[in-house]
Amino acid sequence: MAILEILQHPHPNLKLAGEEIKKVDASIKKIIDDLYETMYSFEHCVGLAATQVNIQKKVAVIDISEERNEPLCIINPVIIDTKDEVTEPESCMSVPAGISENVTRPETVTVEFMDAEGKKQKLTASGFLAKAIQHETDHLNGMLFIDHVSRLKRERIEKRMSKWRKRYADHAES
Ligand code: NI
Repeated sequence: MAILEILQHPHPNLKLAGEEIKKVDASIKKIIDDLYETMYSFEHCVGLAATQVNIQKKVAVIDISEERNEPLCIINPVIIDTKDEVTEPESCMSVPAGISENVTRPETVTVEFMDAEGKKQKLTASGFLAKAIQHETDHLNGMLFIDHVSRLKRERIEKRMSKWRKRYADHAES
């Protein structure tokens, strides 16, 4: 297992969609293990998609539990049904600098996916889990949560991130 480097916005590869996975073989299992290890290495990381670690495959891991003991692996997730709407703050390991923005999404989703054993699954989730599933599914389709906010807000985010990058670079040089 290995802790992988997480790409940060505006890295162009974050805009690439992952490829569909046909079979869960040893190489996919290794990616899943590495995704879990990387996610669990950050206290507040509740989900991580392969596309965030520069692997263009449709697999992501989620654990929203406080005890960090409810792992959920979603492969080729497709949201097939949604219900109601909710607006809540969202953040992402690929959009650092403490950035968090309100995003409006369906409150309940039904998602079809393949699990880590290669079995087809269907799950209906609400609340925080629904948000995490949608956020990670977006990543696998080359989208970030900031693609859901207004242009004005996005410009503010870009400014904050470029300031943060500059400060980080200065710090790294000294
Ligand atoms: Ni994210």
